[in-house]
Amino acid sequence: MHPLMKYFNNIIETIGNTPLVKLNKLTKEIDALVLAKVEYFNPGSSIKDRMALKMIEEAEKDGRLKPGYTIVEGTSGNTGMGLALAAIVKGYKLICVSTDKQSKEKFDVLKAVGAKVIVCPTDVKPDDPRSYYSTAKRIGEETPNSWYVNQYDNPSNTLAHYQTTGPEIWEQTNGKVTHFVVGVGTGGTISGVAKFLKEKNPKIKIWGIDTYGSVFKKYHETGIFDENEIYPYVTEGIGEDIIPKNVDFDLIDKFEKVTDEDAAIFTRKLAKEEGIFAGNSCGAAVKGLIQLKENFKKDDVVVVLLHDSGSRYIGKIYNDEWMKKNNFKLDI
Ligand SMILES: Cc1ncc(COP(=O)(O)O)c(C=O)c1O
Repeated sequence: MHPLMKYFNNIIETIGNTPLVKLNKLTKEIDALVLAKVEYFNPGSSIKDRMALKMIEEAEKDGRLKPGYTIVEGTSGNTGMGLALAAIVKGYKLICVSTDKQSKEKFDVLKAVGAKVIVCPTDVKPDDPRSYYSTAKRIGEETPNSWYVNQYDNPSNTLAHYQTTGPEIWEQTNGKVTHFVVGVGTGGTISGVAKFLKEKNPKIKIWGIDTYGSVFKKYHETGIFDENEIYPYVTEGIGEDIIPKNVDFDLIDKFEKVTDEDAAIFTRKLAKEEGIFAGNSCGAAVKGLIQLKENFKKDDVVVVLLHDSGSRYIGKIYNDEWMKKNNFKLDI
């Protein structure tokens, strides 16, 4: 590269170094400084680009992934997008297995970047052969020269956030961060960031945002995996009916649950009141931290992570008819 020219060699080099943006209106009732780590600035429009690339790089290093292979993953869309970008640049094929609960836009986007998409039913148990977990695993086993990523249990997922997201938050706040609030799905984001931040300052509080219909909060508080906690819910990207290996419960200080309606309303509010056009789990994260406002002091620096872009939810959260169909208020 010419020394005076500034460009990236390919799209995956642009992953990371996302901005930290102060929330001004939505959190005005909170005394503390609230900063949003806006991850839709990544090239695939979500934080998952970071871990997708890391999982691929680590698999290349130890020979699980070889030139010309097919990458297989169960993904609600964002991880698939990150994998797709890396697969294009590095020359792999990609099969994404997802559920019928996800926004149609997410599938269309994946197809646009060359992935094959297989859709499975949402409302079946994880060990049911029709579930997206089982289907992804089976396709991984049946496809010759393939590698099954398994973001839930793959340690490179957490490692990506330990090596990039955590250090960025530390540097951007000049080490002043006191609380980190984030939605939890595979657990990679919360565990990697928590590990890094707690190594720097063990006093930093790590709060995970969960959904009603997910097992995390009760499991964290009691150690009990309670199947009665599991039922269908609307919020996308967070909450689980399994305990992924990437959730390090020892690093998490608290879980807070947010309703589907509140998550949807606060996603819309983020767009209208802050100009931050983000995804469904981002509204949940912001509402969760507002629910916890009694815990903040004036000098606290709270970082809330916003996982993805609103562009994936045009037909859902940002569609008035969809909101009405779900009996969600349009505004509060
Ligand atoms: C939109 C969205 N929000 C939140 C999450 C949760 O992140 P993590 O899997 O790192 O816990 C994900 C990832 O699955 C996601 O796609």
